[in-house]
Amino acid sequence: MEKIRLQKYLASCGVASRRKCEELITNGDITVNGSVAQLGMSIDPDYDKVVYRGRVIKEKNKKIYIMMYKPLDCLTTAEDDHGRQTVIDIISRDISDRVFPVGRLDKNTEGLLLLTNDGEFSNRIIHPKYKIPKTYLALVGGGVPSPKDISALRRGVLLEDGLTQPAKIDIEKINPNGSSVVKITITEGKKRQVRRMFEFINHPVIELKRISVGKVNLGNLPYGKWRHLRPEEIKSLLNNQR
Ligand code: URA
Repeated sequence: MEKIRLQKYLASCGVASRRKCEELITNGDITVNGSVAQLGMSIDPDYDKVVYRGRVIKEKNKKIYIMMYKPLDCLTTAEDDHGRQTVIDIISRDISDRVFPVGRLDKNTEGLLLLTNDGEFSNRIIHPKYKIPKTYLALVGGGVPSPKDISALRRGVLLEDGLTQPAKIDIEKINPNGSSVVKITITEGKKRQVRRMFEFINHPVIELKRISVGKVNLGNLPYGKWRHLRPEEIKSLLNNQR
């Protein structure tokens, strides 16, 4: 989010009028990230921790939209009974806002995961009726999939829970050891869908990475890190731009 003047932020959170908030700052009653705030400073509400009388000051009902490079072996659940690392553990190291994952990625899938506190947004990304494309790079074994197999995946294959919707498939790379990298775009999210589609054509997935959701790309976000989505990225997902 953009930086804004501290007194404006405090007033927008309902602490007091802007004039009174200036006084609170001048009197040393406000801290930002643990240090006493100075009049004239600006803050980033997404990252900075503003405290008044021991209470963290937050905008009410603020919607939060996050993208993460989900690492391998990390669970897409809020909590795990066995104490394994979850995506929420990663976020809550940095912020106290409550968010939930938008859909899921398998434990052994890495890549782009969205998180939010906006149920309607989440539904628009997940529900197959909105046809938001999700693109993956799959390292598959068993040699290079034949043109017949590729066109079967493109048209749709019959899995135990129904026929898959049309997919985009491109062979990106053929490795000397017989594996190949296939780019696949699907618009739904059945459980383990990409893995099951490749199992169907006898080319098991060895590694799987999600690289985009709609127009939002993983880009150069480092492995295991997260950032807030930019306003234009949120808009593009809500408007289903591809
Ligand atoms: N398809 C899969 O098989 N696994 C994922 O994690 C995501 C899509």
